[in-house]
Amino acid sequence: MRVTVNRKAHFNAAHRLCRKDWSDETNAEIFGKCSNPKFHGHNYELIVSVTGNIDPKTGFVMDMKLLKELIQTEIEEPFDHKNLNEEVPEFYDLNPTAENIVVVIWNKLRAKIDKKHDLAVTLYETPRNFVTFNGAK
Ligand code: NI
Repeated sequence: MRVTVNRKAHFNAAHRLCRKDWSDETNAEIFGKCSNPKFHGHNYELIVSVTGNIDPKTGFVMDMKLLKELIQTEIEEPFDHKNLNEEVPEFYDLNPTAENIVVVIWNKLRAKIDKKHDLAVTLYETPRNFVTFNGAK
């Protein structure tokens, strides 16, 4: 039986959508308000979903305490109250769109979660705009 366990998390972060190789005018044209050179913030909400078999010994798919700690260490501590463009190395040369952020988060967590589990991440940039990634090519 494959069961999915989910953990919600949260971080606040600032960003600016832009390509360094484009002019401010082009960035403004493509990215609109999100390209404000002075940055702006979002309350990001995260749902991390781990799918696997129930361990007959523990009754768990995965220890949720470990998942909570992993999200804290890998995502919340490095991202919370940060300027993503300027303070988070993954985005020095990567436009911090919700799409790119969810892939970065997925890769960081994937490296730390047992390969026998499937991983999916949902990232809300606003209550109405959210993206999902499960490693699909
Ligand atoms: Ni934005």
